[in-house]
Amino acid sequence: MKKIEAIIRPEAFQTLRQRLDDHNVKGLTVSEVAGCGQQQGQQGVFRGNRFEIKLYPKVKVEMVAEDDEVETIADVIMDTCATDQVGDGKIFVSAIENVYRIRTRETGKSALI
Ligand SMILES: Nc1ncnc2c1ncn2[C@@H]1O[C@H](COP(=O)(O)OP(=O)(O)OP(=O)(O)O)[C@@H](O)[C@H]1O
Ligand SMILES: [Mg+2]
Repeated sequence: MKKIEAIIRPEAFQTLRQRLDDHNVKGLTVSEVAGCGQQQGQQGVFRGNRFEIKLYPKVKVEMVAEDDEVETIADVIMDTCATDQVGDGKIFVSAIENVYRIRTRETGKSALI
């Protein structure tokens, strides 16, 4: 099992959720986060005043899936969330050791879906 953690633009979330649902990805966790990427020191100008842009609002979507589903899910995220502009976000993938469904005490694969 893997955890797929996608940091995306907030405006991309509703469409992404729909597309993931179409691919049978039902369980997910969403948080509103703030972050920066490579352009962290970038300066902006507002009404003539320069200011440091430090953090941008983003949405973090976490999903745990089977190993062979990761590539498809990453593709769905990239197809949906890419605008070609900097700041589209990142996808992190990490190993998950186990999952328990609290209600039924199922573990592993059968606890996932
Ligand atoms: N190395 C990282 N570790 C943790 N979070 C990151 C990392 N890089 C980016 N993020 C998160 O992803 C968000 C979007 O990053 P962003 O898309 O700007 O990445 P980037 O590497 O600068 O790519 P781009 O050049 O396309 O902007 C950030 O606001 C931050 O929340
Ligand atoms: Mg960036």
